[in-house]
Amino acid sequence: MGYQNIMYEMKEGLAFVTINRPQKLNALNDDVINELFEAFYGIKKDDSVKAVLITGSGDKAFVAGADIKELFELNPITGKAKMLKGQALFSLIENAGKPVVAAINGFALGGGCELSLACTVRFASEDAKFGQPEVNLGIIPGYGGTQRLSRLVGKGRALELILSGDIINAAEAYRIGLVNKIYPKDKLLEEAEKFCRNLMSKGTKALQYAMEAVNKGLNQTLDDGLNLEANLFGLLCATEDMKEGLTAFLEKRKPEFK
Ligand code: COA
Repeated sequence: MGYQNIMYEMKEGLAFVTINRPQKLNALNDDVINELFEAFYGIKKDDSVKAVLITGSGDKAFVAGADIKELFELNPITGKAKMLKGQALFSLIENAGKPVVAAINGFALGGGCELSLACTVRFASEDAKFGQPEVNLGIIPGYGGTQRLSRLVGKGRALELILSGDIINAAEAYRIGLVNKIYPKDKLLEEAEKFCRNLMSKGTKALQYAMEAVNKGLNQTLDDGLNLEANLFGLLCATEDMKEGLTAFLEKRKPEFK
């Protein structure tokens, strides 16, 4: 499919997804959501994609939120349906089975912050800004923010951000654990790509199962999560990658995972 609102490029196993509505600060309208669905369905089932780097076009925004113009038309039925659709997209991204690294190059507000929360890790430029300003519009986060933000930074900090609608800078986002790393703007993509390529040198199944154990385990009891972890570990014992990883260590060489 030819995309109009995102850019999609594959380079040596790494998929680059760029939200491309810079004139509207990459706000997520229905077209962007549909194209992201298409892209991530493909990414999930394409074994040649080993990792994903997602960013925003232009130098001002990652994503400045859901498209506020489209929110105007919502009623209780379409409002709920729209949120469920966005949530399904972000769950698809979270459970794509490969690392998705967010390179946050400016505003990550509302749905933009929520999109970053669904990613595996978040790297930010020094001038990035984060927030869930929905209360200022008389609404609440609807693309998973009330759930994922509290799981990531804790209930108190999540409620502070969600209730105040305050916008915080990258340093504060780093301090509360919302972003993993901060880079100068001109180094952000390079560093995010370097990180992706490092992960891509690991066993693909090991990465997939590690993410599954963490993501699913967070929503289970400790005992259920531990059981899941042991099951996934057991499955890895059947892989060539495990044999290669252990053999390479004993032979004092770098593993070459398939
Ligand atoms: N939805 C739709 N359009 C948006 C948007 C959004 N979430 N965020 C920005 N835009 C549009 C603006 O309407 C403007 O379009 P225009 O040039 O046709 O008028 C364009 O993007 C540039 O934004 P502008 O507000 O002029 O930039 P700024 O630098 O003055 O302010 C922000 C930047 C991010 C502070 C401001 O755009 C903003 O508050 N956006 C909304 C953030 C928000 O509430 N997100 C949650 C939505 S649920």
